[in-house]
Amino acid sequence: MSTEERTFIAVKPDAVQRGLVAKVISRFETRGYKLVGIKMVQASKELLAQHYAEHVGKPFYPKMESFMSSGPIVAMCWEGKDVVKQGRAMLGATNPCASAPGTIRGDFGIDLGRNVCHGSDSVESAAREIGLWFAKDELVNWTSNQAKWLY
Ligand code: TYD
Ligand code: MG
Repeated sequence: MSTEERTFIAVKPDAVQRGLVAKVISRFETRGYKLVGIKMVQASKELLAQHYAEHVGKPFYPKMESFMSSGPIVAMCWEGKDVVKQGRAMLGATNPCASAPGTIRGDFGIDLGRNVCHGSDSVESAAREIGLWFAKDELVNWTSNQAKWLY
């Protein structure tokens, strides 16, 4: 297992359906982060209740649960320096209308519920969420060999 920090980033059903998967991935790649896990998931209500345990029972939960299970999610694990905090900054504020231009939510969304993507809010949440969405053998440790084959 790598000692580098890891975070859980998910492209939500709205963004998958709008064709924004590559754009979200590209932001993290070009920033310099490393993709170590990725898959499409049709999330069950059980998985969502675990993932959003802190929100179960809140007034917005039923609508959010139905939105999050309305289509596939692209679940990703990204690795690199300060990736949890930087990932949250790259996503922007929870409400896209309060997200600065230049952030993913600020550039691609206007609706609080359909806010394009999820990112872990702490190193502890990241570890919990990665364990929830990925089996150990779905995460890949790899290093770039480009120094050997670029000329
Ligand atoms: P939250 O954990 O507060 O935000 P974040 O995703 O930035 O960590 O809320 C989880 C998701 O729930 C949020 O991304 C969108 C949805 N949500 C609503 O639909 N209505 C609300 O009032 C809130 C607070 C969140
Ligand atoms: Mg949250």
